[in-house]
Amino acid sequence: MAIIKTTDNDKREFDSAISELYEYFTSLGARKGRGLTYNVLTYGCQLNESDSEKLSGMLAEMGLTPSEGGELDAADVIIFNTCSIRENADRHLFGNLGAFKALKKEHRDMIIGIGGCMMKVPENVARIKKSYPYVDLVFDPQQLHRFPVLLRDSIRSKKQLVNIASEDYIAEDSFFPIDRKRKFRALVPIMYGCNNFCTYCIVPYARGRERSRSFDEIVRELSELASKGYKEVMLLGQNVNSYKGEDGKTFADILRAASEFKEFSRVRFMSSHPKDLSDEVIDIIATRPNVEKHLHLAMQSGSDKVLKAMNRPYTIEKFLNTAESFRSKVEGGSLTTDIIVGFPGETEEDFLETLDAVNKAKFDAAFTFQYSARPGTKAAAFEDQIPQDIVTDRFGRLTELTNRYAEESNARLVGKTMEVLIEGISKAGDMTFSGRTVTNHLVNFTIPEELGIDIGPDHLEGRLCEVRIDRARPYSVDGVLVSLKGE
Ligand code: SAH
Ligand code: SF4
Ligand code: F3S
Repeated sequence: MAIIKTTDNDKREFDSAISELYEYFTSLGARKGRGLTYNVLTYGCQLNESDSEKLSGMLAEMGLTPSEGGELDAADVIIFNTCSIRENADRHLFGNLGAFKALKKEHRDMIIGIGGCMMKVPENVARIKKSYPYVDLVFDPQQLHRFPVLLRDSIRSKKQLVNIASEDYIAEDSFFPIDRKRKFRALVPIMYGCNNFCTYCIVPYARGRERSRSFDEIVRELSELASKGYKEVMLLGQNVNSYKGEDGKTFADILRAASEFKEFSRVRFMSSHPKDLSDEVIDIIATRPNVEKHLHLAMQSGSDKVLKAMNRPYTIEKFLNTAESFRSKVEGGSLTTDIIVGFPGETEEDFLETLDAVNKAKFDAAFTFQYSARPGTKAAAFEDQIPQDIVTDRFGRLTELTNRYAEESNARLVGKTMEVLIEGISKAGDMTFSGRTVTNHLVNFTIPEELGIDIGPDHLEGRLCEVRIDRARPYSVDGVLVSLKGE
């Protein structure tokens, strides 16, 4: 499958489609006597969130404004940015889509588009073609740079337009207008796709082969973000640490370059694959103060037999050594993971090995998943699929254990005063704010009135403060603000 870089010609087509759509929506709005709105519904991971920021940016350039209502608000243009990682993600789309049939009958000019990873699964596209004729546009995540052209063509043709590319495109962020959701945090994808083909996973099919953005372009973008006042950057990729830039540039080079911008209070990244994690990256985490002291490293299973069947190229011993190396080099750092239970062929002994590995690694937090067979992946055809009651039982036992370690990790913070980057209000009613420590622990805190701090809308987002932690919960800690930095 070819990897294609966008060209100047692609950009010209992109700009011309946006201008044409701007004219179209402006005159439609004039006829309706109101401004037109859009709603981008985002499912799945941060890569989809990042794509949605680009979709929103494009729709804004077409003259549309975000709809004010809730998730399924009936806007003039509705885009579903889908995820296919587990079966319940698929169900979510089809469950919600039905609701738009009647609306579309009433509002004939309304446009419904579906993009995202589900559209790379042929069964889903066939189902839309057959049962959802009122969907106007179907496109895939590799062609975001063609979205305006496709949207324009579907409006022109007045027929359902399905366009799924067989090539993997790569476009630099500078290609797109980006409407960043958080004014302090910038999502910066540095690479796309995955070559690992873990046997359970749909991502390599949905997102195509690994391709990395240009190092110079990424640094240019970071510099722009720093000068615009962003306080946190999140470097993104399905396997960020297998980044391969020009002149042999690696992920360590990007992480170092990002941390050199003193404007960034936090440099974060997601997700790293155990096989590509270098000592150099661990050293950067340990030594650069604005690099998050947190590593998310998916273990998936504690059994070598299951890891092999999953096509994860490491043994549990090697994984635990990496975990140990992180723990010893990054003092007080937090280590989080993903674990799947009920993979085909997983025996009780295999599962006990997973519990054993959790007891050794003592993860500060874990995302635990029940195995979900994804059509088209190797594991979906494996024999020995595990009955649901056994999966449910193992899931319960695993989650109980991982929650215990998460709560212990939170409990270790109690009594300390920690630096927190404020993300916003967590409960508007009682004015509780939320933020994260440099170790990615979630902190909910109150601000004593006597400190006289201006808590006006958005005033505190992205600011650093000191919080005294006084209570641990399973997924967060509670505290009280002691001082605001930079006052
Ligand atoms: N690239 C990342 C993972 C991205 S997907 C990495 O390898 O670390 C996020 C997580 O979803 C995976 O780590 C895995 O635990 C889970 N997952 C992926 N496919 C799944 C499936 N078919 N069933 C259950 N969980 C799955
Ligand atoms: Fe999926 Fe494996 Fe790639 Fe992660 S590394 S996205 S789990 S195939
Ligand atoms: Fe889902 Fe695609 Fe992300 S399958 S998890 S949205 S890469």
